[in-house]
Amino acid sequence: KKKVILDCDPGHDDAFAIMLSVQNLDVLGITCVGGNTPLPNVTRNALTVLEAIRHADEVPVFSGCSHPMVADLVTAPMFHGKSGLDGHHRPEPVHQAQKKHAVDFIAETVMTTDDVTILATGPLTNVAEALNREPRMVERVREICIMGGSVTFGNWTPAAEFNIFVDPEAAARVFNSGIHVKMCGLNLTRQSGFTDETVRRFRGMGTEVGEFAADLTEFFMQAGRKIDDPTVACMHDACAAAWVIDPSLITSAPMHIDVELSGRFTRGMTVCDYRHLCGPNPIYDVAREPQIGFKGAEPNAEAALELDYDRYMQLIYSTLRSYG
Ligand code: BDR
Ligand code: CA
Repeated sequence: KKKVILDCDPGHDDAFAIMLSVQNLDVLGITCVGGNTPLPNVTRNALTVLEAIRHADEVPVFSGCSHPMVADLVTAPMFHGKSGLDGHHRPEPVHQAQKKHAVDFIAETVMTTDDVTILATGPLTNVAEALNREPRMVERVREICIMGGSVTFGNWTPAAEFNIFVDPEAAARVFNSGIHVKMCGLNLTRQSGFTDETVRRFRGMGTEVGEFAADLTEFFMQAGRKIDDPTVACMHDACAAAWVIDPSLITSAPMHIDVELSGRFTRGMTVCDYRHLCGPNPIYDVAREPQIGFKGAEPNAEAALELDYDRYMQLIYSTLRSYG
């Protein structure tokens, strides 16, 4: 199993990322960051999910940065409720987070453990702070796979996706770090919708974990219905976890990606250079005008483009079933 540190801000879709990761990967620790909801809620929610799947004794949880590097914290209660994980019926968790700060855990673990993948499904504050604390991480990390950004349009603003919008400076630090970044953006995660049928299948499992998953999905769908797509709930973060678990579930392309930090309308946008993927331009003849160039900048990242939905859903169902 691949060794991962899961950095997250649960969050309904983060909860699914946790459930997928713990069963299919070697999760060295879950590190929490302020995002969907303030840090104390996020940390409690991570413990709630681990208790629901009965792995809270094995997987340590670390609390990290409560606020972005530069900006004020923005949260998303309209999607995730006041607790950040509304809709489930679990008791308060009895387990507690570790004493160590998440940033220390990330930096120390990467420096002492070979071949660690960082899977990040919240704002990138903890990861960027860890890179600042221990720049030699760059030579040690296997890869960083994030749910964040978009090759096309945003959600929090027309241009920006939530995780990148919340801490663009941290995201820019990560994309420019020299580590290979796999970006699982909204253009991909919008292909991953859970439906009413998904909820029926979760309940049909007849297990506590199935009920937990169904309750979370129903809440997320209702919240989304008011604002977003009326028929589906996209568990964005689960796609990034699935990509680490089974890279063949997602088709991707290398490209250069950077983060807009100052645009009046575009702060937090992931600016993706995929000119090299575009066909002949109707205005310029590339062959005759090579100085126009559609080469694109040297890739620093790989963007997710297409999801194998059926096999992705199979992974979701088989994972939840395996918790019994
Ligand atoms: C991302 O924003 C958060 O609300 C979700 O947990 C996900 O990580 C989607 O834009
Ligand atoms: Ca998240």
